[in-house]
Amino acid sequence: MKTRITELFGIEHPIIQGGMHHVGLAELAAAVSNAGGLGIITGLTQRTPELLAAEIARCRTMTDKPFGVNLTFLPSVNPPDYPGYVQAIIDGGVKIVETAGNNPQKWLPALKAAGIKVIHKCTSVRHALKAQAIGCDAISVDGFECGGHPGEDDVPNFILLPRAAQALKIPFVASGGMADGRSLVAALALGAEGINMGTRFIATQEAPVHDNVKQAIVAASELDTRLVMRPLRNTERVLTNAGVERLLAKERELGAAITFADIAPEVAGIYPRIMQQGDMQAGAWSCGMVAGLIDDVPTVQQLIDSIMDQAQALISARLAGMLHPSA
Ligand SMILES: Cc1cc2nc3c(=O)[nH]c(=O)nc-3n(C[C@H](O)[C@H](O)[C@H](O)COP(=O)(O)O)c2cc1C
Repeated sequence: MKTRITELFGIEHPIIQGGMHHVGLAELAAAVSNAGGLGIITGLTQRTPELLAAEIARCRTMTDKPFGVNLTFLPSVNPPDYPGYVQAIIDGGVKIVETAGNNPQKWLPALKAAGIKVIHKCTSVRHALKAQAIGCDAISVDGFECGGHPGEDDVPNFILLPRAAQALKIPFVASGGMADGRSLVAALALGAEGINMGTRFIATQEAPVHDNVKQAIVAASELDTRLVMRPLRNTERVLTNAGVERLLAKERELGAAITFADIAPEVAGIYPRIMQQGDMQAGAWSCGMVAGLIDDVPTVQQLIDSIMDQAQALISARLAGMLHPSA
């Protein structure tokens, strides 16, 4: 399939694997890129720029296809060594960066000078327009359904994507709630040039996480995610578990007086416990409502092939058949 996104990134299929903390390691990024999509290494999961450089080098040994690096800009008292991470990306010869979180403007001159294409992930049309104005090459439009941080506007993709299509000149992909060929065709119909998936890629053979995580996604329905940290204006969609329910009880109890310190036991240092140890009650980890559509753990190649096959069948048989019904 050829879209503005496949052309921009030099990939075969318009399917991107979004950055995921403690999931987006070289194994997954390489598997997605090898299957014709765009795999992305999650920069901040590597504790130092040197470790990110090593992860990029490791990914190169697993694929000769394009892959990207995610840089998430979080509000932080002690910010990570962003200049170091940017340098590791440039030195590693990576040509695609997915930015997310705060405005990436400060980092664009260095990235652009190195010939890097930047896709910024955001949850509102106004932030997407801002990203376009500062020179980003593409947008990942992340709807309210998404796993992770959906922002505070709560606009789902059926509204957000056509709004983005009205407003943007640069290409965008649909992110949040994407699972299969139906998602891809719907996203294209709403004006996107492809899809970005997080949760769906965790439930694959190659995702380098504990099997309990994959099984939890398969077992979950679309009713099993919760929004946490809304009182802190840092809303995150997570899969419910004992730790998450404890966190929500604190939010109800403390109301507007809640601080990050109150919920630190349920949010700080949770990712390694979930993703590596499979301790599924530990606390908050991002997961999308799309878990309700996921009931298998295929290889990445099988997943991407099935998305493309289903999309093709939908477009050329089901939809075309509606336009030209045979007598
Ligand atoms: C476990 C997990 C961790 C994530 N970590 C990050 C992250 O570190 N940075 C980021 O920009 N997005 C992160 N995301 C968001 C994904 O890149 C993607 O935008 C989102 O999952 C799309 O929604 P979906 O899960 O419905 O496909 C994470 C998502 C999940 C599920």
